[in-house]
Amino acid sequence: MTTLLLFLLTIATTTLWLSVPAVSAFEFDHDLSPDQCRKDINQCTAKSNNSTMWYSCPISCAKYFELEGCMAEQRTDPEQLYELRAKRSDDVSMSLEENEGYVTLYAVIPMLPGMAQYYYDAIEHIAHVYKYTLVAMILPYYDDDQSTASSPSSSILQSITDTSLGDSNSNNSKSKKKMKSILLEGHKRGGNVPNPVLEYLLSRKVVAGNFNLNNNNNESILMTTPNIFLISHTGMFIERMVSPTMEMIERRLKVHLRAMDEPSGREL
Ligand SMILES: *[C@@H]1O[C@H](CO)[C@@H](O)[C@H](O)[C@H]1NC(C)=O
Ligand SMILES: *[C@@H]1O[C@H](CO)[C@@H](O)[C@H](O)[C@H]1NC(C)=O
Ligand SMILES: *[C@@H]1O[C@H](CO)[C@@H](O)[C@H](O)[C@H]1NC(C)=O
Ligand SMILES: *[C@@H]1O[C@H](CO)[C@@H](O)[C@H](O)[C@H]1NC(C)=O
Repeated sequence: MTTLLLFLLTIATTTLWLSVPAVSAFEFDHDLSPDQCRKDINQCTAKSNNSTMWYSCPISCAKYFELEGCMAEQRTDPEQLYELRAKRSDDVSMSLEENEGYVTLYAVIPMLPGMAQYYYDAIEHIAHVYKYTLVAMILPYYDDDQSTASSPSSSILQSITDTSLGDSNSNNSKSKKKMKSILLEGHKRGGNVPNPVLEYLLSRKVVAGNFNLNNNNNESILMTTPNIFLISHTGMFIERMVSPTMEMIERRLKVHLRAMDEPSGREL
């Protein structure tokens, strides 16, 4: 009797589990042809200026740049994060106060051809799927140097900003879609406009994983790879992933979301 009950419960939970909408849309989390992706792997880089490569080979491309991430924490007064402010791409200043109680995803995305639009679209998708529990913010990281990349990062930033704001010159449905992620004002490499949220995230005490990430908090790593921060709903745990796949983001996000349901704020 007990065995049967257990069995049914297992089935029930399994079914429930399977009926949870697949998070990462196929297009964001599936290499079209692993063999071809391996051959074309150089196309993932900014130099190749290939705008479709990251969509055709998202896993291969992400792994090409991936580094071990790290976990940092802020045990005393973790609420100080929520006292900071950020500037949105539409020039409006916002407080992070409303992020408290939600998991925050703060994505620092370099404006490189192919990579930037892919991560923007994929994170926007995640923001839609988890709209009741997650606040997703995207910080475009760019420079003014016209000669380093095949496509200037300031023009990639412009095109992403147009997507986000709903380009007023275009009437297509994509640009009219209501965005769930928050696009922040671009951060210019070497610029002298301070970014308190980014500085805060980069300076928390690393307690596990790649300790070098903290020592190497130089701009080159932020200019060349996407850095995704997941901040627990209390602000206490700050996880940093460097060039993660969508599957990886989702897996870690679920851990943070489960911790939301634990009354004691269990460690991750
Ligand atoms: C861009 O990458 C795709 C693979 O996604 C490849 O099929 C295509 O030939 C590349 N384009 C150029 C111009 O190399
Ligand atoms: C890179 O691609 C973009 C758009 O696909 C294009 O506007 C730009 O001219 C290209 N740059 C080079 C150097 O090919
Ligand atoms: C977009 O649609 C509005 C009203 O539907 C129209 O007035 C406007 O001219 C359109 N703009 C373009 C660029 O097609
Ligand atoms: C910046 O980080 C990169 C990548 O980790 C490293 O190779 C480089 O030496 C660092 N530069 C400085 C000035 O710390």
